[in-house]
Amino acid sequence: MGKDKPETIAVSAGRMTAEHFGAVNTPVYRTSTILHPSLESLKGEQLPYKYGRRGTPSSRSFESAIEALEGGVRCVAVPSGLNAITTAILAVCGAGDHLLMTDSCYGPTRHFCDKTLKRFGIETQYYDPLIGDEIASLFRHNTRAVYCESPGSLTFEVQDIPAIAAAAHARGISVLLDNTWATPVLFRALDHGVDLSIMSGTKYIGGHADVMVGTITANEDHAKRLEAFYGDTGLFLGGDDTYLSLRGVRTLPIRLRRHQESALKLTHWLQTRPEVTRVLYPALESDPGHAIWKRDFKGSSGLFGVELKPVGSAALSAFFNGFHHFGLGYSWGGFESLVIPAEFKRTATKFAVAGPLIRLHAGLEDADDLIADLEAGFARMRAAS
Ligand SMILES: Cc1ncc(COP(=O)(O)O)c(C=O)c1O
Repeated sequence: MGKDKPETIAVSAGRMTAEHFGAVNTPVYRTSTILHPSLESLKGEQLPYKYGRRGTPSSRSFESAIEALEGGVRCVAVPSGLNAITTAILAVCGAGDHLLMTDSCYGPTRHFCDKTLKRFGIETQYYDPLIGDEIASLFRHNTRAVYCESPGSLTFEVQDIPAIAAAAHARGISVLLDNTWATPVLFRALDHGVDLSIMSGTKYIGGHADVMVGTITANEDHAKRLEAFYGDTGLFLGGDDTYLSLRGVRTLPIRLRRHQESALKLTHWLQTRPEVTRVLYPALESDPGHAIWKRDFKGSSGLFGVELKPVGSAALSAFFNGFHHFGLGYSWGGFESLVIPAEFKRTATKFAVAGPLIRLHAGLEDADDLIADLEAGFARMRAAS
């Protein structure tokens, strides 16, 4: 239903109960061969499914749920977020093209551009994530796409997506966005002018740290080329991972609300700490991206950055080693709280930090327990200084 809120869409979209004897969740289809009743069926389009790689009820259920949340025309599910990024870029860019990439992008995205895209004759130019409509000054005759990530990986700049999209579309240039942090529940990328909305579903979509998945959702204009590239390259996500991903969707909005609540509590507390220089979280009024975030987003998720005052390496190790609730691990978006040192790279802009930058994910634990865990970490840090 057009007017349904994300909470409702997440619960009901992609159901195929009638086809599955009333089962609320579409069962896992582990299928390669689909048997057809006749030669005409084998050659024709009578059956909705033709061959495993070309889609099963499991994959269609998940993809159509994401299409409904994104307000998109076609979603394809792939085996990781990074694969969603590389697939989306290759679906629109070819040899001789110029790609504008935000300087705040996720590290492996940068690596892909600098190594693989270069090898295929696609030139990447990094731009200031805060450029807004001045992106137009970077357009060349062969610019094919502007790639955004908002908030940016590790540094959390919020981009003016509507301004970038308006400038790009005036020149027929595609706009791609890594929307992993917000998901369509908090930022409806396609409504703001994005052509291909990308997510690492490994994070909030799966939500339980037990599945690797990526999604790309296209608007009307980009649906055919996305589908064609996806089909040509033989991509597909297996039934078990698709099932886990769809199961995650059902509770996505309610989990995000809790992640936001805890992240707000933690970030407000961290702002009062003498060990902290600044907190990078767009939902905070003090954050430089707050105004655009407030204009465009419906909420904030659980991932944020913290710049600590300069400390020695022994004190920093003491802080990291000994948490009870914050795990040391890559990824985020699951039920568990995580912390890592944030190492980022810039080539087009400067992002100055005087002390260590760390990235935290507020999980679904009690926020006061998490604060107590961080407080103990700061005590360890002080003792080792
Ligand atoms: C912002 C962002 N995009 C994409 C990815 C890649 O996702 P995956 O690990 O599912 O390949 C990550 C992973 O950390 C990420 O943080």
